[in-house]
Amino acid sequence: MSNLANKVAFVTGGSRGIGAAIVKRLAADGAHVAFTYVSATDKALALATTIEEAGGTALPIQADSGDAAAIAAAIETAVQRLGGLDIIVNNAGVSVFSPVDHAEDTLDVVARLHAINVTGVAAAVRTASKYLGDGGRVINIGSSFADRVAFAGFADYAATKAALAAYARGWAWDLGKKGITVNTIQPGPTDTDMNPDNSDFATTIKAGLALGRYASPDEIAAVVSFVASPDASFVTGATINVDGGQNA
Ligand SMILES: NC(=O)c1ccc[n+]([C@@H]2O[C@H](COP(=O)([O-])OP(=O)(O)OC[C@H]3O[C@@H](n4cnc5c(N)ncnc54)[C@H](OP(=O)(O)O)[C@@H]3O)[C@@H](O)[C@H]2O)c1
Repeated sequence: MSNLANKVAFVTGGSRGIGAAIVKRLAADGAHVAFTYVSATDKALALATTIEEAGGTALPIQADSGDAAAIAAAIETAVQRLGGLDIIVNNAGVSVFSPVDHAEDTLDVVARLHAINVTGVAAAVRTASKYLGDGGRVINIGSSFADRVAFAGFADYAATKAALAAYARGWAWDLGKKGITVNTIQPGPTDTDMNPDNSDFATTIKAGLALGRYASPDEIAAVVSFVASPDASFVTGATINVDGGQNA
């Protein structure tokens, strides 16, 4: 038996990139996986088909994490369709380049960033905590930028990811007595649409990594798999860097 057999997982932003790798990995571990997406319907449906054809269970749900009611409704749908909830992975996120002295960047940009990266997560965990029980897992996908920003223009993004790490520490206390763990995984540069490893900027980024290369999404998903597993039962309130030594 796989170590997540008969568990139900809910992953936000599962159609592409790190989220898709997490969906695939948790399904391979034996979990029934619901996942959200916004615009990449074709990719979401193709991923679900691949998992179902391999004998797994996948449920794509269109839900904007920037809409707190939509994300709560998506979790309710997953619980009803898959029969419960054991693991939530808060992966959906967006990044903006927004130097504080750029007059053209409005606070609307900052508000939308916080709505998706922070408030959407707070809404998701409020709903999920109604259903998670002993052995439950809350896993936030933060960023190495929460600890060290490294480049100009990413303060707003970094602040949202620092908030996720702080939330995980607080929620670990709120939910610990129910046997639920809450942790944040902080990826470093990972080859996705958000941060392709062949961009003009990638050479500069790689020079700042001890390993000198980007992660593949599967390398982030492998750590999510461990934190979701029974082997990680005493890990809670932790911030786990998976950053190739960017912050070493
Ligand atoms: N890539 C990196 O270098 C890196 C490093 C550190 C942390 N991270 C974090 O890792 C997470 C995943 O990043 P990624 O690189 O895989 O990004 P990505 O390639 O841009 O993929 C983003 C995923 O999130 C979904 N999404 C975007 N906005 C959403 C919203 N409002 N509501 C629901 N889903 C939404 C997208 O859905 P659609 O396909 O439908 O648009 C897609 O599935 C993010 O939280 C990011 O901040 C990434």
